[in-house]
Amino acid sequence: MEKINHYISIVNQAIDELSYNKEPKKLYEPIKYTLTLGGKRIRPALLLLANDLFGGKAVRAMNSALAIEVFHNFTLVHDDIMDDAPLRRGKTTVFKKWDTNTAILSGDVMFVNAIQLLAKDNNDKLADILAIFNKASVEVCEGQQYDMDFETLENVSIDDYLKMIELKTAVLLAASLKIGALIANAKQDDANHIYEFGRNLGIAFQLMDDILDLYGDPEKFGKQVGGDVIANKKTYLLLKAKELAKGETRKELEFCLTSTAIKPENKVERIKTIFNALGVKKAAIDEMNLFYNTAISHLDSIDAPEDKKKVFEDFAKQLMHREN
Ligand code: IPE
Ligand code: IPE
Ligand code: MG
Ligand code: MG
Ligand code: MG
Repeated sequence: MEKINHYISIVNQAIDELSYNKEPKKLYEPIKYTLTLGGKRIRPALLLLANDLFGGKAVRAMNSALAIEVFHNFTLVHDDIMDDAPLRRGKTTVFKKWDTNTAILSGDVMFVNAIQLLAKDNNDKLADILAIFNKASVEVCEGQQYDMDFETLENVSIDDYLKMIELKTAVLLAASLKIGALIANAKQDDANHIYEFGRNLGIAFQLMDDILDLYGDPEKFGKQVGGDVIANKKTYLLLKAKELAKGETRKELEFCLTSTAIKPENKVERIKTIFNALGVKKAAIDEMNLFYNTAISHLDSIDAPEDKKKVFEDFAKQLMHREN
């Protein structure tokens, strides 16, 4: 854990040093606000860890790590508009604090800044790295579109949901790891295993995000608890509940999902009661563990020192037991 905390702290330091004290203020202030709000920094930490796993030096991967974090924060700024989310990391979201146009444009600049940072790590792998990054960026948008489409779609299957979260969340974790591995000149086979480790871990990570969205402690979660229920997100919890609910429970679920008369906080409470009765939280945790185990099996296949692989396993485990 010491190594991870070290990486997180150098990432935070480097983020503080990014120069966003410039004009026009309304464009750059929201960027600085977002980037310094906190956040777990798991993607840059994973990139630097992967680089270390294959013998790379952190200084050579630092700008790429920053690029991924800036890109991730850009997706959050736009995601909060799309999800009409009031809170992010315990603070007012950019589009609520300023306005939607500001959030769109500041987000756009962050996306470009991410690519500029990637290009700054002067290495002979840039073409490959850009290809991985660009592919992941497009896939995140595809995932975000499915996520929005599913809000109003009746027949979403659990497989549809898993594909959607793979795109909106998992591929970016996977790409972070693969970029870190490439900078360290990892063998292609190992780079592919680390990508698959990240893809499976990312799916498990989003399952946990969906669980926390309803079951998280509002003090620690930093986002509006119940936001997914209010927005009619087709999460694993809801899809499983739709599969299991029978009789009166099914009627109550349908009513909560379709009635415009219930207040949002009552809707969250009533749906949570149904979920608890059906045991869907446990089902989601079981599903999460399946993906976690597949991730670990890819880690096992990597040709690298066992003590370094253990750091990944500990980190992955910690992500499955997080509170925000
Ligand atoms: C939030 O990501 C968006 C998802 C993909 C679930 P994180 O949970 O990594 O958010 P921060 O950066 O730590 O706030
Ligand atoms: C977000 O999924 C994925 C991306 C930002 C690409 P969510 O909408 O579940 O993320 P949170 O819960 O708002 O962080
Ligand atoms: Mg969201
Ligand atoms: Mg979203
Ligand atoms: Mg979420």
